[in-house]
Amino acid sequence: MTVVRWGIIGPGKIAHKFVEGLRTVPNAQLYAVASSSFERARVFAHEYGASCSYDSYIELVTNPKIDIIYIATTNNFHYEQILLCLQHNKPCVCEKPFTLNSNQLQDVIQVAHNKQIFLIEALWTMFMPSVSTVKQHIQSNAIGTITHAHIDFGFEVPYSAESRLFSPQLGGGALLDIGLYPVFLALHLFGEPHTVKAQMHKTELGVDVHDIIDFEYVNNLTVHLEASFTHNLPCEAIITGTQGEIRMHRMWHCPCTISLTNSQGIHDITPVYSGNGYNYEIQEAQHCIANNLTQSSIMPHSFSMLLMRYLDKIYTICS
Ligand SMILES: NC(=O)c1ccc[n+]([C@@H]2O[C@H](COP(=O)([O-])OP(=O)(O)OC[C@H]3O[C@@H](n4cnc5c(N)ncnc54)[C@H](OP(=O)(O)O)[C@@H]3O)[C@@H](O)[C@H]2O)c1
Repeated sequence: MTVVRWGIIGPGKIAHKFVEGLRTVPNAQLYAVASSSFERARVFAHEYGASCSYDSYIELVTNPKIDIIYIATTNNFHYEQILLCLQHNKPCVCEKPFTLNSNQLQDVIQVAHNKQIFLIEALWTMFMPSVSTVKQHIQSNAIGTITHAHIDFGFEVPYSAESRLFSPQLGGGALLDIGLYPVFLALHLFGEPHTVKAQMHKTELGVDVHDIIDFEYVNNLTVHLEASFTHNLPCEAIITGTQGEIRMHRMWHCPCTISLTNSQGIHDITPVYSGNGYNYEIQEAQHCIANNLTQSSIMPHSFSMLLMRYLDKIYTICS
């Protein structure tokens, strides 16, 4: 198998974790890094042994040696940088949230489709064995009919006007940053609800910092979702059925432990993990480009679009 040479746009906090994951993936090589700051690109490239560092994104996307680009900038830049990659025929893996809204997402998916170039949202949890394990147990009726789920993700963050989390200009807000995880898991496990209720607490600048969302389904299933920058939440996913419960334990969005409780007791159903968790999305991207696929069957464009439409809907309800 040939080596896949990766380029990175935006060597910030998450890019470090991504590269730690990349180092554990066979045939993956960090080749180049681009930042608006040459010093940031140079230091990052040096730390991880990348061959090239640039202070312009255009130099990265026009380098013919680069096979695929990972975008790890703040949310507001994803749309324009995905288009930049696609315009230069570069396969592209973009951090979550894919874009700021479904109109932007529609545009980038259309361009990728027209040009037949690989594009994927790096929603890392979706690629982990934890999510497929839970889905398999639900589908095999291991806890009977699902009646309720509670999925949350929240931690107290001191307010800072400079932080991307609280910045309207950088696409901040709890829903786009962390609330998208509970929403994605609910949609992935249970499909679309018939009713969505939502409340948001916002800063004076209109950035949401605490989101409470309730999905109701036709079969009486209720799903409670919560995301917060103002409260330390359990960060668990608890799925209750008529014959038991599945619990993805604290920091459920990371490689987490999972237990299943039924009439016979508590069972550990944690899958075997490898790497730091980011390796799974990287493996999937490499698998797709090696097989000339333009999208992933694990995280197809249709699912990213479904997720983004629900994020739009929640913002509209709370506007
Ligand atoms: N999958 C996950 O587990 C996970 C976890 C955390 C974050 N994320 C996602 O990853 C992305 C980056 O998050 P992060 O925490 O890594 O961000 P970060 O470290 O604050 O910044 C990442 C890059 O964004 C650009 N940037 C940051 N602040 C900027 C500003 N004020 N003005 C202009 N550009 C700015 C810079 O790119 P340049 O170096 O090119 O200037 C920076 O290197 C976000 O989309 C976030 O949702 C994903």
